[in-house]
This record gives sequence, C-alpha cells and structure tokens, in this order.
Amino acid sequence: MNLLKKCSSCFRKKTDGASTSTSRQLSDPTTDFKGQPRLPTFAVPKRYDIQLKPDLAACKFEGIVSIVVDIVADTRFIVLNAAAQLHINSDSVYFSDPNSNKVFEKPKVGNVEADEILVLEFSDTLPKGMGVLTIGFEGVLNDKMKGFYISTYDHNGEKKNMAVTQFEPAYARQCFPCWDEPSFKAKFNITLLNVPSELVTLSNMPVDEEEMNGNLKTVYYQESPVMSTYLVAVVIGLFDCIEDHTPDGTKVRVYSQVGKANQGKFALHVALQTLGFYKDYFQMPYSLPKLDMVAIPDFATGAMENYGLVTYRETDLLFDDHHSAAANKQRVATVVAHELAHQWLGNLVTMEWWTDLWLKEGFATWMSYMAKDKLFPEWKIWTQFFDHESSEGLRLDGLAEPHPIEVEVNHASEIDEIFDTISYKKGASIIQMLKGYVGGPHFQNSLATYIKRHAWSNASTNDLWAVLKEECNEPTMDKIMNSWTKQKGYPILSVKMKNQTLEIKQWIIPITYCCGDYDSLISLLMEKKSETYDIKDLLSNITDPARSWIKLNVEQIGFFRVKYDDGLAAKLRYAIEHKCLSVTDRLGILDDSFALCMAREMSLTSLLTFMAAYREELEHTVLSNLIKIIDKIERIVADARPELMNYIKQFFIGLLLHAAANFGWDPKQGEGHLDAMSRGDIFTALAVLGHEETINEANSRFNTFLNDRNTPLLHPDIRKAAYVAVMQKVTSSNKAGLESLLKVYRETDLGQEKTRILGSLASCPDESVVYEALNFALSSEVRKQDAVFGLAVSKEGREVAWKWLKVIKPTPLHNTLALDRVLLV
Ligand code: BES
Ligand code: ZN
Repeated sequence: MNLLKKCSSCFRKKTDGASTSTSRQLSDPTTDFKGQPRLPTFAVPKRYDIQLKPDLAACKFEGIVSIVVDIVADTRFIVLNAAAQLHINSDSVYFSDPNSNKVFEKPKVGNVEADEILVLEFSDTLPKGMGVLTIGFEGVLNDKMKGFYISTYDHNGEKKNMAVTQFEPAYARQCFPCWDEPSFKAKFNITLLNVPSELVTLSNMPVDEEEMNGNLKTVYYQESPVMSTYLVAVVIGLFDCIEDHTPDGTKVRVYSQVGKANQGKFALHVALQTLGFYKDYFQMPYSLPKLDMVAIPDFATGAMENYGLVTYRETDLLFDDHHSAAANKQRVATVVAHELAHQWLGNLVTMEWWTDLWLKEGFATWMSYMAKDKLFPEWKIWTQFFDHESSEGLRLDGLAEPHPIEVEVNHASEIDEIFDTISYKKGASIIQMLKGYVGGPHFQNSLATYIKRHAWSNASTNDLWAVLKEECNEPTMDKIMNSWTKQKGYPILSVKMKNQTLEIKQWIIPITYCCGDYDSLISLLMEKKSETYDIKDLLSNITDPARSWIKLNVEQIGFFRVKYDDGLAAKLRYAIEHKCLSVTDRLGILDDSFALCMAREMSLTSLLTFMAAYREELEHTVLSNLIKIIDKIERIVADARPELMNYIKQFFIGLLLHAAANFGWDPKQGEGHLDAMSRGDIFTALAVLGHEETINEANSRFNTFLNDRNTPLLHPDIRKAAYVAVMQKVTSSNKAGLESLLKVYRETDLGQEKTRILGSLASCPDESVVYEALNFALSSEVRKQDAVFGLAVSKEGREVAWKWLKVIKPTPLHNTLALDRVLLV
C-alpha cells in the first residue's frame, strides 16, 4: 500500500511566497557539503512514495515525496539532490521516526545551487534506523527535453501538450528531491494525481489502482523493485497502442501518436524476439511484469532505457511499410535491441558511478549486434560492426581530445559529455576483442555470472574482470584489459617481413594473423613491445601468388591499426583484387590505410592506388566505408589541391560505377536488405560527386514523386539520394528544387521522411542556399531535436556554415550522439 495513498489532500498551500531557506542565519548548513563530487552516505534512501500532480495546460507540476531513509550514522543532517528549478516548500519538510512517532519538524533548509544539493539541518540528532523524510515541492514542465518536460503534438488539428520525463544522467532531481546517484537504489511507488481521464498515463510499473474523480483521475502504480533514480519515468498524453506478450507472460506494448499504431508493429516484433534472446543469453528472464515502449515527438537522444518504460524519438521506434527505408528498419532494430539490453545491463546491474558508464553503454551497443544477428542473420550485422563501431571508435580515439574508457567524473555537470564515441563505440569494440580472446561460450557464461552476482545492485569494471578471471581461468585479465580501459588511444601494429619472419611492434595485445588462407589462423597474446614470429612453415605451403598474403587482426577483432611494409601491402592489394579476403578484412585494410594516410604514415597516392583495388566491390559495409573515405578525401583535396578536384572526382565516380550498375535504381525481386541500403548510399555518393547521369535520373524520378507520393519510381531507399541530387541543381537564382523539397517536408507526418529531407538541404554546392538551409534547420518548422541533421553541409558550404555557426546564438544541439552520423566533415 502506498504510504501516501489517497492523501492527495496533503498538498500544502504555499504560505509565504516561498523562499527555499528559512530565516535562521546563525550558521550556513551547506558549508560542509559544498563542492563534494558525491553525496554523503550517512542517510540512505530505501523507498520513495512520490505523488505528482502535473498541469499540462499551465506547464507546471507540484508534488510530495516521502522517502524511507536508513540513518546509518548519528547525524543532524540529511543531504540529497534537488535542482535549482525545483521549488522546495520549506514549511513542508519534516522527518518522522516511526518507532517513537516523533516528528522532527522544520529543519533548516539550505541549498547549494551549483551542486544541486539540498542540506537539511535538524536541531536534534536523528535516530539511527529507518525514518521517513517528507518534502513538498513545485516545478515547471520545461521545454528542454530533460527533467520533467513538455512535448507537443498535433491532434485533430489542435496543438496538445504531453508530459514526459528524461532523468538520465542527473535530472530526476529536477522533478523530485532524491539521492540522484546510480548507487542509491531504492523502491519507487508512484502516484499521478488529477490527470484528465482521457489521457494515457504510464510509469515504470503496471497500474495498481485508478480512481475517477469527474473527468480527472488519480493513478497509483505498483511498487517497483530497487532501481536507480535515473531510470524512473512517467509519460502522460494521448496515444494509440498495440500489444502482445512473451511466452512467459510479459506484456509488451508500443505506444505511438494517435493513428500511427501500425507503425509500431516492427518494433513490437523486435522487442518480443529480443526479450526471448536476452533471457537465454543472460540466463535470466526480464525482471518486470511489463515493458512499454513509447514514441515521443520531442526527444533529446535516440532513446532512453527507463525500467519497464522505454522512451524513443519517433524515428527510432516507428516504421512505415510504404515510406520508411531499409536503413530506418535497421536503426529501429538497433535502438530497440540496445535499450532492451539495458534492462539487464544498466537497470538490473547498474554501474557504481558514471566512471563506469561504458559498462552499460558499451555492452548495450555490443549486445544489440548479438540480438540483430540472431533475429536478422541476412543483415550480416557483424560485418557492419567494424564500420559503425570500431572504425568510428578508432577515429575518435586517435584525436587529441578523447578520454580513457574508464573516465573520472567529479561533478554531475561532467556526466553528459561522456555519453560519447569512446564509451559507446570503443567500449563495444574492446568487448568484441575480449570475446574474441576468451571465446564466445566463456564470455557468455561470465556475463551471466556477472549479472546473477550483481543483480539488483551495482558493479564496477573490476567486478566484471573478476568474473572473467574466474570463468576463463585467466589470472591476468585485469592486467590485459586495463591498458584498454584506463589509458586513451590505441596501438599501431607495425609489421615487417624479414627473412620469412614477421617483425611486429607494439603494446600488450591479443593478436591474430593468417597467411594465404583462413585455415592458417594463429592467435596469440603479444606481451612484449616487439616480437618476431617465424612463419617459414606457413609460407612453405604457398605457391599460388594470390595466396601469398598475410593479414593481421583477422576479422578486425582487435582494437588497433596495422601498418604493413610495402611488400606485404602489395600482396594484400593483389588478394583484394582477386577476391581472396573476407568482407571485414577488406574493410579493415581500407579503413586502416585511410587512417594511416591521415596520420601521414602513408601517401595519398598510395591510398588512391589501394582504393582502386575496390573497383568491383559490392558488399554493403565495404562500400559504405569506401564512400565515407571518398567524401573525406574530396573535402581535403578541395582545400589542399583544388586543381586536382576534377581528376579526383572522375576517379571516384569510376570506383562507384560498377556498383551503381549492379544495384540499379529499382528494387530487385528478392534482393537482400544490404543491397537495398547500398543502392541509396551509392547514388547519394554519385550525386554529391556531381555525376550527371545520376543527378538527371534522380531529378526526373523526383518530379514523378511530386505528383504521386506513392510512385514506385521513388522507393524510400533511394529518396535520400534523390533529394541530394535535387539540391545539387539548386542555385540562388533557381530554387525550385528546394521549394519542392520543403513542400514534401511540410506535407509529411513521417519523422523519417522529414529527417531525410532535412539531411539533404545543406548538401547544395551554392553557398547562399546552404546558408538558407542552415537557418531553416533552426526555424520553428524543425523540432529542436532534429536541428543537428540539418548540419550535413556540402564541401562548398563549409566556410559559410562555419561563419553561420559562429554568429547564431549558441542554441544547444541535442542528440549529439547522432553527430557522428551527420557530420562527415
Ligand atoms: N542511455 C542512453 C540515452 C542517453 C544518452 C541518456 C545520453 C542520457 C544522455 C540510451 O541507452 C542510448 O544509449 N541511446 C542511444 C541509442 C543508440 C546507441 C542505439 C541514442 O540515444 O542514440
Ligand atoms: Zn544506451
């Protein structure tokens, strides 16, 4: 039974116009607690009873929280979090001791705004053991997509508000006073008061009881198991939903805007299958009675794994059979599988502190590949892992700014910025390397043991190494892994062939190599800075020149780069041309070569010669990487050697034409998911390179589409290419193409269509059009969350974009995780 159940009348009226501190001025209760990175632990929360009364029309809320607190040391103080945005009604604060029925009223209330803490100083020492702290508060439903916020939507032509929470990493304190750190796990009883009865209300747990009061309702939710504050969630608005259940009875629902329920079908399918897969893999079932997934129109990141109530931006949850592309489908599966992995890794077992953020983000990223591979084997998702995760991780880790995976976090304000490529992509990549080293079954068992051992509790990186040490009988596990998680950067393996021995230099790393074929795979742990390996025997079997290659880091399992001497590189090129290497190895060699070229370890001419070996490439991932590299080189050459631009463009067009002819503009019967994605990528790249035939064909198909939005001539997979092609023809004196695109943008209600258009507008070579496109991205027609997609500027537009960026009022860019996908500059 909720502690405060049915006592909505106990909302106290504000009596005094409301200062947050009382008038006693003798001492400042906050002095001892300022500037501390973590909350003190002499009082520990066990259970929260939270009553929230939101007013969606007035964009505000009030509430009362009663927290069962374990006082573990003699103290007159209770220190917890409350953000400056939250108004604490000082008169409402009291502490009661259930044993003696004594009430400790009106503590001195101090708050340290910079640290977002509330310091309550009582005149008597609080008794050790359980007590109840009660606090009344008020706040604003903000428009910043964090804390307790308002998202807007259109319903039958009317603009409506919904109320949504986003508490990770440290915004629960904007909604109710709490111990807002991941290690203070507690149970939550949530009550929503006075909500218009036609609205859907959701929280982490199923409804316990609902009371109607005229056209308002009060909804009581069941008590949650112990969880961290950043995972608490509430959603209130109008939605349609579809539902199903797992074989063991977990109810799964997908909520979308009214009228879009069908678009939730794909995510529902993925969720059901994924829950089953994770249950088997982790050897532990999903831990709550229900799972809701909700599409929110205004959403700062891609999605948020709130326990039992996962929230998503619409484009990452909904899929429209007629207008979404293959790439959209893969994104939905990725995000759903990622958030569901968190239900175990993050929600059930939580990182001790944000330093170990990678433990949940790296793992959820990696696990999503396991799930996708199981659900959609035809996606060959592991071949995409290197391109999407490791390649990006290595690129960022090679720059000056990054941090080690385990990163020191001393203040709440530092947490947001570590949700980055290092935590996610380098994190996922070293997990993949570790799994490669210890082997799949050992790795899975270790993970299952880790989850069992730390369920409903917290864990740190060392706890994971401890389990792996035991399960894999690997006493030096932490020594091996520390070099990857505690220092930044990665090694470059420099390989030379000398008298039939391989000479390799670098850190302590698990390496693999093979010579001439994949049966000759050698795996070893390289422990010295420099080693030589005798490979006479391996080489003696080889007579065919196409088999005289040596590939290190087989299947790109290790998180490092490899630099070959000229002779070895030439043999690899020959092997690529003769189709002897696997997809991931072709991709890895290309990616390493580009990185080495950027680091001036390889000449541009050598790189281009190498790229020519990929002329007949048709594999999606390799093409996708090739296109990324083409785009980057084009931008570099445009600045450094403009006189070579034409030659380079023709060279690159030549590299892509074989694939373009192979895929064609129209879907082929029975073709795979990867070919569908490649088609769009190839034509987009050709349009950007100014390939006239592509631009003309795309424009003609687009014109047909303008008259018939369902024409088969503009399949969703090629729309982005067509839009980019349309923008190549737009100039300041002829903006017809831009206007047509904006018309489509305004008419569609599909988020993915809007994003496709927004991502094409600034690809125009005309500077003044780029300027106009950038301003559009910040206009009221674009939700703040999507502005970031409008920054994909053409190489010709970079100068003007930079000037624009310097003068715009620094509007915070949301969804910065997506920046990697947007900015290829
Ligand atoms: N926990 C994050 C969401 C988040 C990110 C909260 C940053 C607060 C700050 C969530 O699990 C996540 O990682 N989402 C990704 C999804 C992706 C990697 C599949 C996102 O939002 O892009
Ligand atoms: Zn995540």
